[in-house]
Amino acid sequence: MNGKKYVPTWYFPLLLYCSLHLIPAAAGNATDDEFIYTGFADKELTRFGNARIMPEGFLMLTNGKSQRGHAFHPLPMMFRRTSATATTNGTENAKAVRSFSSTFVFAIVTTTTTDDTQQQGGQGIVLVVVPKANLSDFNTSGSASDHMFSVELDTNIDSGDSNNNHVGINIDGESLGEKKAGYYEDTNGQFCGLSLVSGNVMRVWVDYNGNTTQVNVTLAPVPMNKPAKPLLSARHDLSSVIVGDSYIGFSSSTDTLSTVHYVLGWSFGLDMPAPAIDVAKLPKLPTRSGSQSKTMVIALPIVSVVLVIFIVICVILVRKRYNYVELREDWEVEFGPHRIPYKDLCQATQRFKNTNLLGVGGFGTVYKGVLPKSHVEVAVKKVSHQSRQGMKEFIAEVVSIGRLRHRNIVQLLGYCRLKDELLLVYDYMPNGSLDKYLYGHDNKPVLSWAQRFLIIKGIASGLYYLHEEWEQVVVHRDIKASNVLLDNEMNARIGDFGLAKLYNHGTELQTTIIAGTLGYLAPEVTRTGKASPLTDVFSFGAFLLEVTTGRKPVEQGTEGDLNMLVDVIFEHLARDSLMDVVDARLQGEFNADEANLALKLGLLCSHPLPNLRPSMRQVMQYLDGQSSLPEIMPSHTSFSMLSTAQSQGYDSYVISKTLSASMGSVGQLSSFSSGR
Ligand SMILES: Nc1ncnc2c1ncn2[C@@H]1O[C@H](COP(=O)(O)OP(=O)(O)OP(=O)(O)O)[C@@H](O)[C@H]1O
Ligand SMILES: *[C@@H]1O[C@H](CO)[C@@H](O)[C@H](O)[C@H]1NC(C)=O
Ligand SMILES: *[C@@H]1O[C@H](CO)[C@@H](O)[C@H](O)[C@H]1NC(C)=O
Ligand SMILES: *[C@@H]1O[C@H](CO)[C@@H](O)[C@H](O)[C@H]1NC(C)=O
Ligand SMILES: *[C@@H]1O[C@H](CO)[C@@H](O)[C@H](O)[C@H]1NC(C)=O
Ligand SMILES: *[C@@H]1O[C@H](CO)[C@@H](O)[C@H](O)[C@H]1NC(C)=O
Ligand SMILES: *[C@@H]1O[C@H](CO)[C@@H](O)[C@H](O)[C@H]1NC(C)=O
Ligand SMILES: [Mg+2]
Repeated sequence: MNGKKYVPTWYFPLLLYCSLHLIPAAAGNATDDEFIYTGFADKELTRFGNARIMPEGFLMLTNGKSQRGHAFHPLPMMFRRTSATATTNGTENAKAVRSFSSTFVFAIVTTTTTDDTQQQGGQGIVLVVVPKANLSDFNTSGSASDHMFSVELDTNIDSGDSNNNHVGINIDGESLGEKKAGYYEDTNGQFCGLSLVSGNVMRVWVDYNGNTTQVNVTLAPVPMNKPAKPLLSARHDLSSVIVGDSYIGFSSSTDTLSTVHYVLGWSFGLDMPAPAIDVAKLPKLPTRSGSQSKTMVIALPIVSVVLVIFIVICVILVRKRYNYVELREDWEVEFGPHRIPYKDLCQATQRFKNTNLLGVGGFGTVYKGVLPKSHVEVAVKKVSHQSRQGMKEFIAEVVSIGRLRHRNIVQLLGYCRLKDELLLVYDYMPNGSLDKYLYGHDNKPVLSWAQRFLIIKGIASGLYYLHEEWEQVVVHRDIKASNVLLDNEMNARIGDFGLAKLYNHGTELQTTIIAGTLGYLAPEVTRTGKASPLTDVFSFGAFLLEVTTGRKPVEQGTEGDLNMLVDVIFEHLARDSLMDVVDARLQGEFNADEANLALKLGLLCSHPLPNLRPSMRQVMQYLDGQSSLPEIMPSHTSFSMLSTAQSQGYDSYVISKTLSASMGSVGQLSSFSSGR
């Protein structure tokens, strides 16, 4: 800023133009002190040269090479107070230029890109205040007689300008100050440079205070608010410059580079701030080839951020879904035919819909389903498991169990492994589990004695098959009424294999999750955690007594004490009133010999000492009448110990814990039971 006088090159074409074209008389009086253009559509501007108002609503000062464009508000503004409005010191105020403020939104777009910084788009845009819209009167030498005040957005190197991207204040061609284009951040006062020819929409504020004679010029990108600190500030009394009503407008020119100069909105106020421009309502610039790469520069980071967020969400979802992803490992290949795809099971059970729920047991939930391809009705048991330890052995056992074939055994069709869940697929038993008949749930009819005795024989036969007839000894571990299922012929079948094994596998006794059900669990199991065929016999004994009497093996007494069914039957045996204990729902219609046999055999199987229990082979023989039951004497020493021994068999903690779980399935009996 050397204050040297110079003649802006755009003066010449301006004058040339004006001398060639008659400018309509700058008709009209300054009738108002403010105006606002939110876009220029349908607006009357006094235009010269290439200046056009486009249908989109923006003012286009130039659009190509070697062009000039000028546009003025059609009415002159009363920059000087008339004596009539002067109040305090009329003579002085009449001379003073009133405070004024103007703001405009613009964009400068170079349509050709070049690395030659010396040849940027043109002269830029100049906001001018001149006495006449007829510019032919201007003195080309830039003398004081021009009476021109201007704020330039210069994109070209002129004499006296330090660079080609600056903002300057000029009086009659003399620079009052100039600054590299940019703005000061409100937060930290840091300077942020802007490129005028970037094609970005920017905004300029020009403020003059008539009292202090200070001129401020502020620049900011749209839609940023006006920064508090002006880019440029100068002190100059405009009273000598603006001598009367004057016109305000824009001037622009290009030379070697094809440049488009746009003004999108403009407002002005005298003795008041320029009316606020609603940036959102301004016309939109047409998309340009140059702007597309610009758009990409802005859009690309946004798009990539959105993409990254999307991917992160996907990963989270997939990881969540991973829990439902089927697990398959190499060792499972040999079990291939028994592995049922999760997809099929989902389809079969309608995504484990509640309406397909058959029941909830100790280890999981059971759903009814129809396999998609074979249309076989199945029961799918969903078991949650935490550790994969022993899983291989367990699956091997499941698969070997799948090879069991017996008319009193629920066929295990296959399995499916998820991360935290194991799905076991069994044949569907249309008549449900026996417990529902015994206790009259689901409006099931009371089973006749003949049916009950058949069920007893069937289960005995199934257990005998498991223990002795098959190629290896299979211990069921969880014989009880709810695991006895009835097929469509009311034929009893043993269900739920192997799970007890899964839960007992390889754990220390102290923390063992003892699978089984209170009253069905042989006392030695709670002590040692070891199951054997004879523990199944114990459970079978409890089952026998339950089916015959219609009472649960352990019932909670009125004072929270435990009534062992064995004790009750034992008392009746001592009083020779055994038939009184037979299920009252049979209304006396039963075969007394068979009932007598069932009760005594039940007691025999419930012997606290495993070695004194019969084997399943013997049980079969007793039931078939092939051999007669040994006499059970009420005074028999080992039986007199029965109830105490059995009570002692459970540790008190286990019993209280289990009974609070409603006398049902024990499932997990653990000092550290984690609940289920
Ligand atoms: N194969 C099947 N066909 C038809 N219904 C079944 C089948 N398996 C189980 N159910 C039903 O689902 C219910 C829940 O079975 P689940 O085995 O989970 O519990 P539970 O037998 O009561 O206890 P536990 O977990 O100790 O075996 C059963 O009571 C039975 O009514
Ligand atoms: C513009 O100014 C020139 C010279 O000052 C004058 O000859 C011309 O008539 C003016 N035009 C109008 C429209 O006032
Ligand atoms: C403009 O002002 C002049 C005198 O100052 C007056 O003669 C003329 O009628 C006014 N025109 C309008 C449009 O107000
Ligand atoms: C106006 O102000 C000037 C100086 O401030 C003073 O000399 C002059 O007398 C004042 N005029 C009136 C009319 O108050
Ligand atoms: C233009 O300015 C020059 C000097 O700067 C002066 O000699 C000349 O008279 C002026 N012309 C007009 C028309 O004001
Ligand atoms: C110019 O900017 C300065 C500093 O922010 C401020 O104090 C002053 O009031 C401004 N003047 C005008 C006319 O806006
Ligand atoms: C200028 O001074 C007058 C009188 O003191 C005051 O009313 C007015 O608001 C001031 N204008 C500005 C822009 O500060
Ligand atoms: Mg079960």
